[in-house]
Amino acid sequence: MPPPEQPNKGTNFITSALATPVSPVEAALRPLSFFDFSGQPKTVERLKVMVGAAKRRGEALNHILLSGPPGLGKTTLAFILGHELGRTVRVTSGPVIEKAGDLAGLLTNMEEGDILFIDEIHRIPKTVEEYLYSAMEDFRLDIMIDQGPNARSVRLSIPRFTLIGATTRSGLLTAPLRSRFTLNTRLDYYDRQTLEGIVRRSCDLLKVELDAGGAREIASRARGTPRIANNLINFCRDYASEKANGKITQPVAADALELLEIDAAGLDEMDKRVLRLMAENYQGGPVGLGTIAIAVGEEAETLEEVHEPFLIQEGYLARTAQGRILTPKGYLAIGLKTSAGDQQSLLS
Ligand SMILES: Nc1ncnc2c1ncn2[C@@H]1O[C@H](COP(=O)(O)OP(=O)(O)OP(=O)(O)O)[C@@H](O)[C@H]1O
Ligand SMILES: [Mg+2]
Repeated sequence: MPPPEQPNKGTNFITSALATPVSPVEAALRPLSFFDFSGQPKTVERLKVMVGAAKRRGEALNHILLSGPPGLGKTTLAFILGHELGRTVRVTSGPVIEKAGDLAGLLTNMEEGDILFIDEIHRIPKTVEEYLYSAMEDFRLDIMIDQGPNARSVRLSIPRFTLIGATTRSGLLTAPLRSRFTLNTRLDYYDRQTLEGIVRRSCDLLKVELDAGGAREIASRARGTPRIANNLINFCRDYASEKANGKITQPVAADALELLEIDAAGLDEMDKRVLRLMAENYQGGPVGLGTIAIAVGEEAETLEEVHEPFLIQEGYLARTAQGRILTPKGYLAIGLKTSAGDQQSLLS
């Protein structure tokens, strides 16, 4: 078995001015090799095949689209690919590439085989997206310069680069863009066992004392999401040092997370507000997402990207053509008995 990699050493990441900021803790906990990255077996297998083949042929990796809810490891995997290939990763994000010139600036500064990581690629402006097609396919950009009678098109050759796109909303990508990625792979929520391993690894790196019960408690309340697990660890660490002897045990973790109003199933304030609203004001639905968003005071996009996928996967909500409906499990989660029309509080 290879020795474990040191975190965050040895790869060249260029974070352009057009990048999404990353917190220092998140950066410190981010796995830098496949060896350190647990879970997502299908995606990892596919990526390893592509990396192996690219290395063998000495060619640039083919373009890859990573999709899935926030905090599951899309950015992490893009960095791992750079690390495994020994290539520079340039990081940017869809909405900040405002014009073709921005894209040209990024691409012409790259070297053969480098990786351009575009986060939130579904938010790239349509006018820029069209330039991306020829960049991805033919490694050239036809840029218009000047205006009016002097307007002319200049063809720029760009090095063979790899585009890694990340999106929380792959459904919003246009078909022509999607079809230009060799691999389109989706990350799923992590199971509890895998998350427990991630919790233990993070605590090791942060030098936080944790026992098996503490790891289990944090993992089961982390909504299948490593980023949430890491955030909960941070809070539990503070809680343990203030209220206990610094060690995260099962009761310490449970008390800390109770204080955050994260319940045993990982549902947070907003999840419950959505479920309660549907039960109490809409008899369990069907109700449209826009209506829910206004009533709970959250952006519809955030509900759809962050809250809904988990609620649907875990069976609290179902999506129908008429709108969202609350399931029996959804009623139970907020202490109500099933069935529209005849709801009875279990608590009253
Ligand atoms: N498989 C994993 N093993 C260990 N830690 C992980 C794993 N996946 C993600 N993480 C941790 O979770 C954090 C969030 O992951 P990452 O930033 O890659 O998510 P993302 O999918 O890019 O989210 P977003 O859509 O919000 O950009 C990372 O800092 C990393 O520490
Ligand atoms: Mg990311």
